[in-house]
Amino acid sequence: MAEFHDLAELALNSDGQSWGNLGYWPNATNYSDACRALALLLGEQAGLDHSSSVFDAGFGCGDQLLLWLDHFHVGRICGVNLSRSQTAYAKRKLEEAGHADSAAAISQGDINDPGLWDAVLGRNQPSHVLALDCAYHFPSRAEFFAVAQWHLAPSGQLALTDFMLSDRHDSDGLARHLLRWMLKVSRIPEANIVDRDRYRLELEQSGFADIRMIDISAYVMPGLAQFIRRLRQDKVAAGVSKRPGWLGLLKYRLTGRFLEWAHRRSVLRYCLIIATKAG
Ligand SMILES: C[S@@+](CC[C@H](N)C(=O)[O-])C[C@H]1O[C@@H](n2cnc3c(N)ncnc32)[C@H](O)[C@@H]1O
Repeated sequence: MAEFHDLAELALNSDGQSWGNLGYWPNATNYSDACRALALLLGEQAGLDHSSSVFDAGFGCGDQLLLWLDHFHVGRICGVNLSRSQTAYAKRKLEEAGHADSAAAISQGDINDPGLWDAVLGRNQPSHVLALDCAYHFPSRAEFFAVAQWHLAPSGQLALTDFMLSDRHDSDGLARHLLRWMLKVSRIPEANIVDRDRYRLELEQSGFADIRMIDISAYVMPGLAQFIRRLRQDKVAAGVSKRPGWLGLLKYRLTGRFLEWAHRRSVLRYCLIIATKAG
């Protein structure tokens, strides 16, 4: 059965890489480097190190799992991804890199299924729950916060990169209609797109404190839009291994134009969020 989250983004990557996020573009010249830079930023801000035990929600095709293991040298990883094709790909990737134990610790399924957390974690309490560029897709981000808080070790960290509404967003006009339509075609529940105060409140109500939110929109949204423009013109200039087909190009073109507009018009913001389990 066709999946919304599949292996399509492989075509955008340099050889051997399989990222699928929006990227962090201040110094990157190709898609894989930008995606890796976003993951590095998340890992650094979350303070990952050899003592960390990571639960990764929405791990894509597994490149970020290798980053946690081989760059940050975390002690343990596990995780859940809704996509069957990506989970199978990530398992193979981990096995081929000599991380068979970690491959066995990742599972396919919906992050909003609390039973899956129990199955994946057993009695372990992760020091970190990470969600790299994916929580806006979850059926309910607020429920994800609550389950993450429940499972985290005392003083554990939740770290995400995520969308929120801009403080200056227009709640009625044409912008709102366009945003609604784009959320629908991108399979993003509307209830997940909240402003900064609401986002903070949902974290606090789920039992998180010491909340840091860093607006990185300027280094994410226009960068991806420019990359997609290059991709349409010339695959060599864009640094991709294979040019996507016309349907893929249309999807990326729509995404790029939307992100550029949403950034310029201050409709959406893209942020790095770190919060600590309270109490
Ligand atoms: C935009 S992609 C980001 C992938 C990856 N984190 C990366 O940076 O390359 C969103 C990811 O979230 C996953 N996802 C979406 N909804 C999910 C859910 N309900 N439960 C678990 N994973 C989900 C998708 O399968 C996909 O891997």
